[in-house]
Parts: sequence; structure tokens; C-alpha cells
Amino acid sequence: MSETPLGTRVRPIDTASGRLRLLDQRRLPREETWIDCDSADATAEAIRSLAVRGAPLIGVAAAWGLAVEARRLAGADGGFDASWAAAADRLGKARPTAVNLRFGVERMRTAFRASAGRPPAERVALLEAEAARFEEEDREACAAMGRHGAAWIAAHLGADPAGPLRVLTHCNAGALATTGVGTALGVVRALAAGRPVAVFADETRPFWQGARLTAWELAKDGIDVTILPDVAAASVIASGKVSVAVVGADRIAANGDVANKVGTYGVALACRAHGVPFVVAAPRTTLDSACPTGRDIPIEWRDGAEVLLLDPAGESPLSVAPAGVPALYPAFDVTPAALVDAIVTEAGVSTAPHADGLARLLALP
Ligand code: MRU
Repeated sequence: MSETPLGTRVRPIDTASGRLRLLDQRRLPREETWIDCDSADATAEAIRSLAVRGAPLIGVAAAWGLAVEARRLAGADGGFDASWAAAADRLGKARPTAVNLRFGVERMRTAFRASAGRPPAERVALLEAEAARFEEEDREACAAMGRHGAAWIAAHLGADPAGPLRVLTHCNAGALATTGVGTALGVVRALAAGRPVAVFADETRPFWQGARLTAWELAKDGIDVTILPDVAAASVIASGKVSVAVVGADRIAANGDVANKVGTYGVALACRAHGVPFVVAAPRTTLDSACPTGRDIPIEWRDGAEVLLLDPAGESPLSVAPAGVPALYPAFDVTPAALVDAIVTEAGVSTAPHADGLARLLALP
């Protein structure tokens, strides 16, 4: 197996010369348009509207949004510290579940405090440097997760299967959700560097992160991908066509319970019922030791109206349900730790009991 994961041609964030541009993921795969974020509030709106999404990427986008905000405020009159702090509070609340958002904001708050007393231009430069470091760490973490995850899967599955290794994934935990090769799809890319791999991408209604985003980025990088209706995942797993499921995470509790895109729990149940390994790949910025169990993880409930539309982020969303009938949209679910065979981080792999495994990984440098 190759030591280095395959790279990617996909890059959803552009931070050249201290500005922040985000690929508008609502418009993929139809068109590649970019949003210029010139303030923390513009960044928060991009996060809320799912123009930018995916736990690690929203953490990095928030960090850059706060560097951009400092630059904006440095040119304005007075109130620099108070205005920046209020903007950081608003940005940190843009979405509740992915703890990476809070992590990115906290990291910038620490850098902001450390820069106190310096001239505004210097503080801006220090914040930009911190955001760039955070971005680079995410890129490196993705590459390391790819290596650890591919090695664990190779060891766990034993002999190469006849034909390609068949990986099922849910949502998009790829290059579009990070600043590197992705978390779950970083593992896929690392596997694909050493053997033929075929990916089943759950479509992930109602925003279609699988059908629109995972399929787009894997096709762009030349990795075999087939879209599955979400409702077919269990029967395809039962049919023996899936070698391993690999997904990302938005927050992992101290006991190893995993919050990820709604539908992940069902995939994990089907995997356990049919003896298919279920693997979660996430950087340590997704581990939240302040949440003892999954019950403590805040779950984002989005507007049920989004479920009633065929393409809620599209230009002319089509309603499929009778007028006046409501819908529920919990955007994430929690998979109990007992169903998770491996949690892959940049520092190594946790296996059951995850409470011990994660504590060990968090203690590593
Ligand atoms: O609502 P989204 O698209 O932000 O949800 C994203 C997911 O659930 C991903 O699986 C998760 O953030 C991991 S991304 C590397």
C-alpha cells in the first residue's frame, strides 16, 4: 500500500493574500462560483446557508472569517476589541453541532488576546498567521488520517477481496469538507493509492451532499463512485456488496458516540447486523471531551420546509409534498460508540473501548 494518500484537485477555500473566498457548495455540481467573505457576519451567513459546510472546513472558514473581520475593523474608527469579540460570538453560533466551528473561533480568540496592546495592523497579521496555521494543520491531519485509516482497514479486512474494495460513505466528508484530501474520503483516497476502490455514495437527502458533492469530487479525481438512494444503503450492505463503511463526524463525545449527518446511525446499524466494519474518520478538533456522551451533543434541527423541496439549495426548488403538510429535519444523528469499530484521527486509531482509545489519542502531542 502506498504511504502517501492520493492528492485532490478539489479546493473549496481560497485564502490567498489574506482574503477569504469560499466555493459555493449549494451550486455544485452545476457551476463553480465563489463567495467573497469580507466580514465575520458574511462568513457566518455562508456557514448557516450551507454554502460552506463540513465540520473541519467550517472551523477553518470561521478562523479566516475572524482574521478578515480584524482587517475590516482595523480600518474603522474605535471599538476594535469589543466589535471583534461580538463578531466572534455571532460566528461561533452559526451552526450548533460541528464542534470544529467552536474550536476555530476559540483558537482565534486566544490569538486575539495574545495580540492585545499591539497596533491594529500587527494584530491583523498575527490573526492571519494563526488562521493559516490552523488551515495547514487541517490539511496535514487529513493526510495522516488517510494513512492511518487505510492501514487499519487493510489489516482488518485481511486478504485483498476479489475485485475492488467497496467503500460505502454517507454525506460528504471529503476535500469539500476540509482543506485537504478529506476525512472519510481521505481514507478512500489513501486506499485508492494502493488498490482498486469503488465507492457507494449515499445521496444524503435533502441537501444531496452525497449525490452532488461526494460524487462530484470523486469523479473529478478519477475515483470510481456510484450513488445510492439513502433508503437502499441497508439492503446493499445486507447483499454483501460493501467491504467497509467509512464516514466523517461533526462531534465525537468522550465515550465515542458519534454525531454525523442524519442517516449515519442507520448505516452503522446495518453494518453491525451484517458484519461489515463501520469506521469513522475525524480530526482531533472534532473530539469534544466536554460532552461525556452523545446525549450531550447539540443536534441542529433545520427548517422542515427544506425536506419538502427536491433541491432546497437550487434556483427553482420543486415541492414534492401536499401543501400544508409539515416535515421534520434533524440534520444530524448520533451513532452509539458500541457500533463504531474504529475512530481514525491524525494521531492514530481508537478501537473499543473508545473512552480509553480517544483519551489516549487526545493525550498524544
Ligand atoms: O450539514 P453538513 O453538510 O455540514 O454535514 C456534514 C457532515 O455531516 C459530514 O459528514 C461531517 O461534517 C464530516 S466532514 C469531514
